[in-house]
Amino acid sequence: MANYVGAIDQGTTSSRFIVFDRAGNIVSVAQKEHAQIYPKPGYVEHDPLEIWRNTQEVVDKALEKKGLTARDLAAIGITNQRETTLIWDKRTGAPLHNALVWQDTRVDPIVQDLAKEGGPDRLRSKTGLPLASYFSGLKLRWLLDNVPGARAKAEAGDVLFGNIDTWLVWNLTGGPAGGRHITDVTNASRTQLMNLHSLTWDEEILNLFEIPKACLPTILSSSEVYGDASGVLAGVPIAGILGDQQAALVGQTCFQPGEAKNTYGTGCFMLMNTGEKPYPSTCGLLTTVGYRFGTAKTVYALEGSIAIAGALVQWLRDNLGIIGSSTDIEPLARSVEDNGGVTIVPAFSGLFAPHWNADARGLIGGLTRFVTKGHIARAALEATAFQTREVLDAMAKDTGIAVKELRTDGGMVINELLMQFQADVLNVPVIRPQVIETTALGAAYAAGLATGFWTGTDELERNWAVDKRWKPSMEAARRDRLNAEWTKAVARSLDWAG
Ligand code: G3P
Repeated sequence: MANYVGAIDQGTTSSRFIVFDRAGNIVSVAQKEHAQIYPKPGYVEHDPLEIWRNTQEVVDKALEKKGLTARDLAAIGITNQRETTLIWDKRTGAPLHNALVWQDTRVDPIVQDLAKEGGPDRLRSKTGLPLASYFSGLKLRWLLDNVPGARAKAEAGDVLFGNIDTWLVWNLTGGPAGGRHITDVTNASRTQLMNLHSLTWDEEILNLFEIPKACLPTILSSSEVYGDASGVLAGVPIAGILGDQQAALVGQTCFQPGEAKNTYGTGCFMLMNTGEKPYPSTCGLLTTVGYRFGTAKTVYALEGSIAIAGALVQWLRDNLGIIGSSTDIEPLARSVEDNGGVTIVPAFSGLFAPHWNADARGLIGGLTRFVTKGHIARAALEATAFQTREVLDAMAKDTGIAVKELRTDGGMVINELLMQFQADVLNVPVIRPQVIETTALGAAYAAGLATGFWTGTDELERNWAVDKRWKPSMEAARRDRLNAEWTKAVARSLDWAG
């Protein structure tokens, strides 16, 4: 009997395959990083073939580690870095260009141009999103306009568009030999091409963005049997797809309106379940699909997206070399008492929520001769906490709901200094669950619900358990001073272009 469910978690910096048991515990895991390609400032690309190769490799490895085979898996789910955009040849499976990663800002000029008429929020009521370089629709347009011959082939249906979920499912279900060209509602909601109310591609937006419908995947729910996998997973139903942040919402079992989670990965993404109707934002948040399980009602979410969180730690490691590995950041930050007056605003891709400003640039401020790399490390961690505070404030303003405690997950939550500081600047308790791989877990849950491995969301809620809770312990005066310093630094970053 199949006792497990597997999840492919294809993220911004690495691909993983995780096998879960019925209690939601990790049975086996394998992970592999892929290259980040930076052809010029603002451009960020991935090689889609490397991602597909790595995905197959981690599946093989995770199964091999525990002597598992396809027969041990009741289903597999897929979760992915969202918005990252690629096109490929339907006959050969060859990508026509590297994937344009969600952080890539090359379409800014198109964004500015479109915003001239009707402003940056002209598509908000239909899509829940402001015009921004973040989403896939305009990235797709760039590819169609800049890759020779791509547009004509896309119009003929010979070139296919996909986010990473679509690319993986197409390959897993046979590729050129009849692979399924599909996506789920959560990923589709990040293209800015889908109408949030009808959950279909919006003809008017397709015309505005000059996107031929023939290259778009079919939109399905987040939890249903899409087809059987091939290769080493032969015969295992692929039965769940969720964008990674929505997957974490499911993995954290935030099934009730008002429940929220914050995932600290490359970026940092807070999502709050807002129930069965799209909830409009006036405070710089995104309205997005949370999940849709089969034919059940669609659940929507409000999202605060922060582009740079863990990526700042990687930048300190890779670009400045002040740490040897990401885990060195915590001891280095602990080597000093406070940030020594330093503030870092990591506006590497402009600033996302709640500012949505493409011209903002990163800065390190407050430098004196006293400052050491310990202060820089501390300020880097604090930047994530301050950005989260801005997003939580926006959520409270938009919904009138003050989050009582924040469920956290993602790679950075092993950092206890960060978790305590987060509770302090929010003045809200922060909770880390026992399983912090909630992104993969959410995709596994979606797949296992579709195939009857799990009976319903009640069973999933029972799987969720607290590992650690951090209570706020900072004096109000200090918190207010730090928050004010952050706000001042952000204003300077926003003003960078003058
Ligand atoms: O929207 C981008 C997001 O899905 C990327 O997530 O975990 O790879 O930083 P992550």
